[in-house]
Amino acid sequence: MSTIMPDQGASLDRAIVPRPVRFNITDDSPRYWFGDDPFRTHFFNALFTTFPPGENFFVRSVLHFRDRITDPAQQADINAFAGQEGTHANVHQDHLEVLLRQGYRSLARQNRIIDGFLRLTNRAAPKLALALTVALEHFTAMLAHQALSEPARFHDPAHADFLPLFDWHAAEEIEHKAVAFDVYQQVDGSYARRIFAMLLATLFMAAILVPWRMTPLLYRDGLLFDGGTWRDGLAFVYGRHGIFRSPWAHYRQFYRRDFHPWDVQDYALVERFRQRYASGEWQASHGLQPA
Ligand SMILES: [Fe+2]
Ligand SMILES: [Fe+2]
Repeated sequence: MSTIMPDQGASLDRAIVPRPVRFNITDDSPRYWFGDDPFRTHFFNALFTTFPPGENFFVRSVLHFRDRITDPAQQADINAFAGQEGTHANVHQDHLEVLLRQGYRSLARQNRIIDGFLRLTNRAAPKLALALTVALEHFTAMLAHQALSEPARFHDPAHADFLPLFDWHAAEEIEHKAVAFDVYQQVDGSYARRIFAMLLATLFMAAILVPWRMTPLLYRDGLLFDGGTWRDGLAFVYGRHGIFRSPWAHYRQFYRRDFHPWDVQDYALVERFRQRYASGEWQASHGLQPA
């Protein structure tokens, strides 16, 4: 189980900073870029390529209620949140384009379905859309926490072309993890809707996303019926130390009535990245250019 780290200092600057970066993920990047492992790579391919429709949905869901927020500092947080998520969506779209050129066409078809469903939710049920955003932001904050707090399993095996993407996205997810939640508490605050949204989000993330999106990827690689691939892969995702199971303590916090994202005090996880980015050391060490 992951350790929920105490914050290292109350005086940390918690500004939310969009950081446009151009990554080195190209057609020349290795096909199996996470630990040379097809299943683990496709797990992250399936997850990361869901972000373009998903994060654009988060932005629409929060911006829908921006006019109801009067505090200028919170308005600024909303704008920075939209800036970060918009940039994430673009970066992950570029990765998706690489995968499409490699022949994984199912991802684009599925993204059209996901995007249509999410746009319909925005139109028909904006409060539910915001609650779903809050729930899915808890997932992204939790996965970000995992990647940064257990680097040996969920970060270091990534190829050098992808490694900085993990640092950057994980840090910004933690940085802005309370923005949608704080908006939700002000414009709705219904505990029942928040929990309902979390149950839907959990069903989608844990039971639908992985099998639905990964099956065509493994089929294309001739690995769909390979028992060893599944045994090892399912353990990586759902096993005792799997990426979806080990953050249980973090996940279940959400069900408390008085939950707030900063109850999990993990800001210290991102502080080093923030400093290295601000000084340019992080970009230089990964050979990255600003976007
Ligand atoms: Fe994001
Ligand atoms: Fe986010």
